[in-house]
Amino acid sequence: MKQEHVWYGGDYNPEQWPRDVWDEDVRLMGEAGVNLVSLGIFAWARLEPREGEFDFEWLDTIVAKLHDAGISVDLATATASPPPWLTNTYPDVLPVTEDGVRLQVGSRQHYCPSSPTYRRLASRLVTMLANRYGSHPAVVLWHVNNEYGCHVSHCYCDVSATAFRAWLQAKYGTIESLNDTWGTAFWSQHYSSFDEVRTPSAAPTFRNPAELVDFDRFSSDELLACYRAEVAILRELTPDVPVTTNFMGFFRDADYWAWAREVDMVSDDCYPDPADPESPAYAAMTRDLMRSLRGGDSWLLMEQAPGAVNWRPSNSPKRPGEMRGYSMQAVARGADGVMFFQWRQSAAGAERFHSGMIPHSGTESRIWESVAALGAELPHLHPLIGEGVASKVAIVFEWDSWWAIEQPALPTALSYVQGVFAWYRRLWARNIVVDFVQARDDLSAYSVVIVPSLFSARPSSLANLAEVSRAGHQLVVTFQSGIVDENSRITDGGYLGALKDVLGISVEEFAPFAGADLRRQGAPRPIGSIAGELTGVSDVNTWAEYVRVRDAVTLATFTGGLVDGYPAITRRESESGSGAGWYVATMLGDAALDRLIQRLIDDAGIADFAIDSPDGVEVVHRGDRYFAINHTDQQVSALGQAIPPRGVLITEK
Ligand code: GLA
Repeated sequence: MKQEHVWYGGDYNPEQWPRDVWDEDVRLMGEAGVNLVSLGIFAWARLEPREGEFDFEWLDTIVAKLHDAGISVDLATATASPPPWLTNTYPDVLPVTEDGVRLQVGSRQHYCPSSPTYRRLASRLVTMLANRYGSHPAVVLWHVNNEYGCHVSHCYCDVSATAFRAWLQAKYGTIESLNDTWGTAFWSQHYSSFDEVRTPSAAPTFRNPAELVDFDRFSSDELLACYRAEVAILRELTPDVPVTTNFMGFFRDADYWAWAREVDMVSDDCYPDPADPESPAYAAMTRDLMRSLRGGDSWLLMEQAPGAVNWRPSNSPKRPGEMRGYSMQAVARGADGVMFFQWRQSAAGAERFHSGMIPHSGTESRIWESVAALGAELPHLHPLIGEGVASKVAIVFEWDSWWAIEQPALPTALSYVQGVFAWYRRLWARNIVVDFVQARDDLSAYSVVIVPSLFSARPSSLANLAEVSRAGHQLVVTFQSGIVDENSRITDGGYLGALKDVLGISVEEFAPFAGADLRRQGAPRPIGSIAGELTGVSDVNTWAEYVRVRDAVTLATFTGGLVDGYPAITRRESESGSGAGWYVATMLGDAALDRLIQRLIDDAGIADFAIDSPDGVEVVHRGDRYFAINHTDQQVSALGQAIPPRGVLITEK
């Protein structure tokens, strides 16, 4: 995507306002340095007020006004919220929940992703928009739909059931192959034909795990099919206009590795909770994921809140400086644009209390001042457009494992993302930028590859990971990895499969700590302890297991409890001598993680990629700039200069 300036702007919903406000909007956008707005995201009912009757006059008018003012348009396909006529006429478009409840019109996203009627009517609208605006010079990007799957990602209606059966038939060919893979000999689940298969709605107790993972895959694929149907039209009619759809960070229900291949630019919506002290690190993690999804390409922060959101139980405003800090964090980690939800705070509707770039209090407000100041500053970052961010550390992250590890009837309730975050936040504390990768990727560029709880993996992926250590790099595998294959069947040859040799251990049995529930937010509390040469005596949490060492050195051992004396951290040196296969049988607390990470940095020889900074101060290097972002309420010193509370320092190399 050719880009001349750092994008700056937000969702713009002029249809919520009388026309005399539009001129003021455009004038104020100029004042704020806005150069891109996302237009028409929820405008279907205004664009097609009755079936087949279109009204584009208002959109023509505002697109022209924006263009005259030099503001570009990220034009929505407007398909995220069907108008009332649509679901009144075609009620089977309405989605059905797992419990059999049909969700009604009156909020948004009330459509079954598999509905042919929804897709047909969406396609017609997209065709009209593409024909009318595709060659308009203001339109520089297509914003396809909005946050696919945010509210409705899985639909259990009859239409979905038919689509699921077709998906399964395409995947398995024969019903016997499905029966084999799902293990339907268990609990009398054997199917005689595909016609007998339904969506996995509420059932008396645990469902078939392979069925559930397939339904997760199917559901992500169905949303992606909706996206593809729109994109096919856009590519045909407006081949020169790039397309995106806004992702939602670590969002369980859409496999963004698959999705990212089909967008021209990754874009993300990110709403860190100002009241959560973990937010800076967590937001950094989503930025790194967004950059990684297309192999390091620039991405766009499509939405963030200028102040408070309105959808948490209690909504903290951003403190002074915080909005700039998160914006610069995005740019530092690969974003070539910073956008908001939304331009003008709504006066009516369910998002009245969500902040806007122009708040209810108008331009005499700290929000507006911070918005205008950022708009004046971003043009200085122009030289960064298209620049990558270098990383020597990779974390393996896969949706298949996410889906498989958060099912019921497992040894304990684990949160996959919290397990990943436990590692990420301590790397972040050392300013080590992380690339996210899939286990099957070429990993040869990374000195350290961390594999947190890769519960489900193909044998070939495990073999690929084993190469990291053989090739002379540091491979760190944590508990609950390689437990099942891609079909949810216990890994052939035992847990860890092809990783067993390079790790030099096997895992016999699990002993999760009672009471550990990692699905809750927040840092888990210490429940056990380990001791050893590497870690000293240190708290651990969540998990323990019985590890048998075959050909590795034990560097820390569980102390006390059921697993007393069993290995907690092992290391096996690779044949070449420089690489190693590490195994970590628990969720380490910060102290042990810090010591292990230090050792990995030393062994991998990547000390240059770690940057010292005070706690809560994030330093990132991109292109010819260093960014130091002070997330704390104190003045600090970093990069040799003083930074005020929540200030950002940007220096040229
Ligand atoms: C999402 C949506 C927006 C808006 C914001 C509010 O990101 O895409 O339409 O609802 O949330 O935070």
